[in-house]
Amino acid sequence: MPKFTPSDFDRELNRTRLKVVAQIKEPVNQEMELFETKFREAMSSKVALLNRITYYIVNRKGKQMRPMFVFLTAKMLSNGQVNERTYRGASVIELIHTATLVHDDVVDESSKRRGFFSINALWKNKIAVLVGDYLLSKGLLLSIDNGDFDLLKIISVAVREMSEGELLQIEKARRLDITEDVYYEIIRQKTATLIAACCSLGACSVKPDSEDVEVFREFGELCGMAFQIKDDLFDYGEEKIGKPTGIDIKEQKMTLPLIYTLNNCSKSEKRWLINSVKNHNKDKKRVKEVIAFVKKAGGLDYAVQKMLEFKERALKILEGYPESDYRSSLELMVNYVVDRKK
Ligand code: IPE
Ligand code: IPE
Ligand code: MG
Ligand code: MG
Repeated sequence: MPKFTPSDFDRELNRTRLKVVAQIKEPVNQEMELFETKFREAMSSKVALLNRITYYIVNRKGKQMRPMFVFLTAKMLSNGQVNERTYRGASVIELIHTATLVHDDVVDESSKRRGFFSINALWKNKIAVLVGDYLLSKGLLLSIDNGDFDLLKIISVAVREMSEGELLQIEKARRLDITEDVYYEIIRQKTATLIAACCSLGACSVKPDSEDVEVFREFGELCGMAFQIKDDLFDYGEEKIGKPTGIDIKEQKMTLPLIYTLNNCSKSEKRWLINSVKNHNKDKKRVKEVIAFVKKAGGLDYAVQKMLEFKERALKILEGYPESDYRSSLELMVNYVVDRKK
């Protein structure tokens, strides 16, 4: 048996992870390469400051899961025949995703994103708000200028829902009275709708007016629900994920692990939890105690269980389609949503 030092083990784990991502991407490698060029171009501006900032953004790539969802869905449903609409749709979605991250870091007062400083940390809130608006408008114009109105409709619904979701979250953070169902509604709106849009848009770009558009909207929504539960679980951990952890409680954001714990503890414990989130949310030691309490109460286990239920429902939808390399990649992608390390 080879002897693993911890760092060897980590390296091996990393290699496995990279292999999985490479495997997922394999059937859409060419599309993703071309997408990157188009995405870069779609951001350009005549204003030098904007170009400096968008240059900063594109050089700190995210996981690009949303364009991958677009291309994999489109290729699966068309035997590999994507078109210009598919590319434009992928660019619009990634532009909008980027815009919402820039805004979200202002809202959450977060100074790190993708392992580097966030836009608000480097250029301040004023500029971050305007850059977010710019990216959003560039995205919408890309659809309008090309007459992709069916795709634009899908995208605009997602944009509206994302704003509603973030606002609903703020409303609930103020009152600290969120239920599990409201939590699902928040994450459906703020995160799942955009991933739903990726998959329905991918379908619509190759098979407009087909039933697949709705089936894949639902598939994407389920993936998106699992995706945000995973993101909320990261916040309870200490792993390096390229953005701060432990900030949800600081922002009085109540996510599934805490909601479960509140509903499954004694009255006095509940009072202590609420008081911690309400009045001691900026006290690092107290936040750590809350996190430890949630873990002990099984809050993380419960959230994992719910996340896996969404994952299973997503996989079930894929079973209704014939086997192909694209379908296999989408299956791996669904698993990656819940297994990923950042
Ligand atoms: C972050 O999304 C925002 C959430 C909806 C949780 P990603 O985790 O896909 O961000 P990047 O693009 O890979 O940085
Ligand atoms: C995702 O929520 C919000 C978006 C829709 C952009 P979070 O606030 O949890 O996302 P991260 O953790 O900052 O990426
Ligand atoms: Mg945030
Ligand atoms: Mg988060």
